Amino acid sequence: MNIAVFVSGNGSNLQALIDAEKKGGLSSGKIKLVVCDKSDAFALVRAKKHNIPVFVLTGDRHASREEYDKVIIEELDQKNIGLIVLAGFMRILSGHFVNKYANRILNIHPALLPAFKGANGIKDAYDAGVDVTGVTVHFVIEELDSGPIIFQEEVKIGKNESLEKLEEKIHKVEHKLYPKAVRMFVDGEMRS
Ligand code: GRF
Repeated sequence: MNIAVFVSGNGSNLQALIDAEKKGGLSSGKIKLVVCDKSDAFALVRAKKHNIPVFVLTGDRHASREEYDKVIIEELDQKNIGLIVLAGFMRILSGHFVNKYANRILNIHPALLPAFKGANGIKDAYDAGVDVTGVTVHFVIEELDSGPIIFQEEVKIGKNESLEKLEEKIHKVEHKLYPKAVRMFVDGEMRS
């Protein structure tokens, strides 16, 4: 199954998926494309190092979200992509896009949804002073951070723990959980 990973930043989850693929951890899943909306994202360096084609579309020249997504859809169609994996992609996808790939878009969120939706899941949980936060992998629907949940794993916040330490713990769980979810999707072990 051909996979496209969508990124905007560091790409540590992309790296975890690349590493998993190399060890056979994505079953027959192959990362055939990395889509990115930032031309200076470190994720692009990671993709290029592993010879994965990248498609960078910054969005500045597209009047609407739908127009932007249509350009991406053409690229995905060309590469016969069967699964889209959002890994820190900071753009909101149009309804058109989400419907076209219904039940074939995964996202990872660094909190226990429905708690702490939005762009700052780790910090928002930390600032709220909760004892436990975590990681969620879910299917994407039009409404942000709201699709059917596939996996959740808790991460405890220690007393006097720094935000940096919590971020580190969350990312470690993400890097384990996301390849597992992708492998299950590829093997048809998952339904939305
Ligand atoms: C991750 O924490 C993910 O949960 C969130 O964005 C972050 C991306 O990190 N959606 P990276 O670019 O994969 O390092």
